[in-house]
Amino acid sequence: MSEATPNPAPEPAKVPAAVAPAAAPKPAVKPDMSRGDFLWAGWAMLAAFGAATAAASARFMFPNVIYEPSQKFNAGKASSYDLGVDTKWLNEQRVWIVRTPTGFYAMWARCTHLGCTPNWWGDQNRFKCPCHGSNYTLGGDVIAGPAPMPLWRAKVELAPTGDLIVDKAILENKPGKRENAPFFANYSPA
Ligand code: FES
Repeated sequence: MSEATPNPAPEPAKVPAAVAPAAAPKPAVKPDMSRGDFLWAGWAMLAAFGAATAAASARFMFPNVIYEPSQKFNAGKASSYDLGVDTKWLNEQRVWIVRTPTGFYAMWARCTHLGCTPNWWGDQNRFKCPCHGSNYTLGGDVIAGPAPMPLWRAKVELAPTGDLIVDKAILENKPGKRENAPFFANYSPA
């Protein structure tokens, strides 16, 4: 009986040799900076920093200016107005010019509820807001609706030329103040 020959041990699988990474290109060798170059670079950086600081300071000295349309306008000759409410500046300036027997006031046509433009109803002698129904008297006081306060009056002056100058940047609606200058311009035609 012949002896069984033992199986030879399996050869270890051959592992492919790792691919060596390509050698990184060597950076070009810069020549060393001379002491003089180094000083110049420092001065240049310092000068750039100074220039940037100066530019920022100059910018601060001259801030942005927002040009808005002027709130002041010439409403024309006082003598051209009849007694009562004149609506000719409503579309352009959102203002009513009101002439009384003793002078003028200029009412800002902006509802004090949410800012809609009321309409003048001459037959009812009141301003009525179309949005939520606020009603105002000829003087601007609230008589109906949700408006929380009277209409605003703008500054109005009678120029030496006889023109009415209205300034919407200056407003008043408190009784006792709104009836006096500069929110009322006395006018008595010769
Ligand atoms: S905005 Fe005029 S009543 Fe509301």
